[in-house]
Amino acid sequence: MKKIKTSLSKKAPDEYLGDNLMIILRGASKELDEYIDTLDSRISNLISDHISDGNFSGAEGETTVLTLPAELPFRRIILAGAGNDNSFNNNSLRKAVSSGIRQAERFGGKSGIYISGFQQFTDSAKMVFTVFEASFLALYRFDLYKSTINKTPKKSISAISLLLPGKKIPASLSKSIDEARTICEAVYFGRDIINLPANDFNTGDFAAEARKIGRKANVKTTVYKEAQLKRMGMNAVLSVGRGSENPSMLITMEYNGGKQNGKPLVMVGKGVTFDSGGLSLKSAANMVEMKQDMGGAGVVMSAFKAAVELQLKINLVAIIATVENMPSGSAYRPSDVIKTHSGLTVEIINTDAEGRLILADALSYSKKFKPSAVIDVATLTGASKVALGTVGCAVMSFHKDLIEKIYHASENTDEKAWELPLWDEFNKQIKSDIADFKNSGGREGGAITAGLFLSKFIEGEKWAHIDMANVDYAYSETPITRKGASGFGIRLLVDFLKNWK
Ligand code: BES
Ligand code: MN
Ligand code: ZN
Repeated sequence: MKKIKTSLSKKAPDEYLGDNLMIILRGASKELDEYIDTLDSRISNLISDHISDGNFSGAEGETTVLTLPAELPFRRIILAGAGNDNSFNNNSLRKAVSSGIRQAERFGGKSGIYISGFQQFTDSAKMVFTVFEASFLALYRFDLYKSTINKTPKKSISAISLLLPGKKIPASLSKSIDEARTICEAVYFGRDIINLPANDFNTGDFAAEARKIGRKANVKTTVYKEAQLKRMGMNAVLSVGRGSENPSMLITMEYNGGKQNGKPLVMVGKGVTFDSGGLSLKSAANMVEMKQDMGGAGVVMSAFKAAVELQLKINLVAIIATVENMPSGSAYRPSDVIKTHSGLTVEIINTDAEGRLILADALSYSKKFKPSAVIDVATLTGASKVALGTVGCAVMSFHKDLIEKIYHASENTDEKAWELPLWDEFNKQIKSDIADFKNSGGREGGAITAGLFLSKFIEGEKWAHIDMANVDYAYSETPITRKGASGFGIRLLVDFLKNWK
């Protein structure tokens, strides 16, 4: 991504001199605006004929490639559909650009993007942001482990230029490109660390990455190791990590971009670098995907990094609890009772319900920062997938205004989120006979009982919980993400932070 040159250009589509010209079309009529008309007549109506022949309907995500005669200035036109609704929105634009840039990538070289009827976008900054965000998101690849000969793509995009003919392009508009780049770099970072398997990314690597981010101005990073955690009473974190050779850690990152002494927003992330299930061992089929179980922490760290780089005017704290959940002679067991940081005790029913344990300690610890609000992000339950499929994450909170703010960010970023209820009636499922709570509430309402469990450790604070176990990892390709870590939640959180007051 660093190598891709970006620009805003006043060139009309027929004046563009790159390799690929992408044209975004939308609307049932697929009306070609005057600039496309001019281009079309220069190329003997290739575009309009192609459409009237029924080759392109303009549906969201649809693409078609037209190869042009060699005497023309560019080699091909890529038509990308933005849906058959006549009204434009940023979410359909994002999908269209992502789908189109994937086609362009097959050929490589310079790509121009022209949006038919772009003048209808009232918010030019947002339009520019969306075009580059979409391009960067779609072009991500994780091929670290591929030998050179197996690396893809063979070709790559060297430049992306958004064509805005007839429009004033104030210098400030290119700030939107920079912002898209910064946020997408954070998404790349998050995708990378989530994609890395646990043999190459474990608890110590989390600390190393946090320290790197901590080198920036206004940022303070602290890494608490096991001896300190013991003194702090972080017994839930320590218990979960006890079966592993990799030491458990709690990492805090503080960024002061807001008012001095202003209450910070605290983000808490589940960083289980590998979740074997522990003694309540997972099946082979379920275990193989568990390198992604540090996704919540990955998202929190990435959003923090973006917030620092964007120099957002807020006070922000990221807390990452990182452990590896392994079975061994020293592992914690089903039936153990743990005294958590909050003082509340938990009976272990299932060592595979480990995420809520480390979060219980981290959430309880977060109170020390006197937060304005706390949001935790976690790949917490398989039940979230049963409830919501793989489309959007689950949100839980007792504070409607927090849910509303998350929904707002969700609409802006098209990272979908939906509320699950923390109804009182679920409490009986996590009551223990011998301790304050048990760590598993069984199958029924599994995402909710996990959320309810967390709520016990953050009582009195404004708090929301995001369960993203169902969206953290893509098992099939979408316009903005290939198979593997999606980075879902990073853009959502950054948008949330940008609007946080
Ligand atoms: N890490 C898993 C949840 C998960 C599942 C993440 C699928 C990503 C994809 C979590 O620690 C877990 O094992 N949860 C159990 C809880 C149960 C034992 C109460 C689950 O969901 O089955
Ligand atoms: Mn588990
Ligand atoms: Zn887990």
